[in-house]
Amino acid sequence: MIRFGLVGCGSIGERHAKHIADNPEAELVSVYDIKPARKNALEKKYNLSPTLSLAELVNQKEIDIISVCTPNGNHFSTALLALEAGKHVLIEKPMTINKLDAERLIYSSLKNNKQIFVVKQNRFNPPVQYLKNMMQQQRLGKIYFVVVDCFWNRNKEYYLNSDWKGKRNEDGGTLFTQFSHFIDIPYYLFGDIDLESISGVIKNVCHEGLIEFEDTGAFTFKFVSGALGSFNYTTASYKQNMEGSITVFAEHATIKIGGQYLNTLEYQKTNGFDNFEIIDSNPANDYGFYQGSMSNHDKIIANVVDALLGKGQIMTNAVEGMKVVEIIERMYSTAKVIS
Ligand SMILES: NC(=O)c1ccc[n+]([C@@H]2O[C@H](COP(=O)([O-])OP(=O)(O)OC[C@H]3O[C@@H](n4cnc5c(N)ncnc54)[C@H](O)[C@@H]3O)[C@@H](O)[C@H]2O)c1
Repeated sequence: MIRFGLVGCGSIGERHAKHIADNPEAELVSVYDIKPARKNALEKKYNLSPTLSLAELVNQKEIDIISVCTPNGNHFSTALLALEAGKHVLIEKPMTINKLDAERLIYSSLKNNKQIFVVKQNRFNPPVQYLKNMMQQQRLGKIYFVVVDCFWNRNKEYYLNSDWKGKRNEDGGTLFTQFSHFIDIPYYLFGDIDLESISGVIKNVCHEGLIEFEDTGAFTFKFVSGALGSFNYTTASYKQNMEGSITVFAEHATIKIGGQYLNTLEYQKTNGFDNFEIIDSNPANDYGFYQGSMSNHDKIIANVVDALLGKGQIMTNAVEGMKVVEIIERMYSTAKVIS
């Protein structure tokens, strides 16, 4: 049995709590949130003893691992406190909002002999796993070009209803909060990105006064393998999310995965390894207007349990979490800001 503590009882924290409670090999022991009403609601729902402070939570002897579900800018301090108290940590994406903090967490985890898990649940999506398997079996041949297009809508209410989204120190930027999965998946599938090759432009096109950074960007880059990459994103799509996709042009296939959560196979032309199962389970009319969520957080909790019980390996480890932070940091530091 793996016993969880949870910090941050907002929308994603509630999802963690549900899947911890649903997993027969996991137990939710305690939760904490700076907003007492949110903490009390989860304590009541799961019949938990009240916890009065973060220090009290991380020092509870029976807890093995702390789920960190606080705003991005708080991940570092909460995870560090938990690691230093001798707990493993499961950190929501992004791991941190700068590379130095991610390194400090890795240092602490090694020093304290504890594990860091990072939440990148889209890795479990069937089209992503299909592409991963094809890459591992070297079926795609040489990778030529990878195109990532993220066209979402984030309206005024979205930002006005949050006390941290849109704020540089707590959110970090659109690439951290909206599109970090779309950086993680190309990295997971096609390997390291040559940081020196990244170049791009960013601009706040229609969220002036609402967010402290860009809402739109266009980047080109090169993978270490030599493949070219292009990354276009915006939260200015009219009225609703339009697309989130990754297309790979390779020697033996052209494949596009999309849907709002990279959960559909939009296009495939392959040298004999088409996947009809995924096509059948994800009808094409979902394209661009997917409203639900393949949250996969149940698989995240199951992976934590399996890894800590010695039955599996960590799906997204600390170094991978840090790599994504490093890539985003590099994108921001090299981008030309258009006013
Ligand atoms: N994996 C995913 O696809 C996914 C989806 C949404 C959000 N997230 C991530 O999950 C995290 C939380 O996002 P959310 O949408 O649930 O936000 P939210 O605002 O709904 O919840 C955050 C909660 O943390 C609490 N909090 C803030 N500071 C705290 C502190 N110092 N100590 C304890 N509690 C504190 C807030 O009171 C709030 O209840 C973010 O890092 C976000 O990027 C991941």
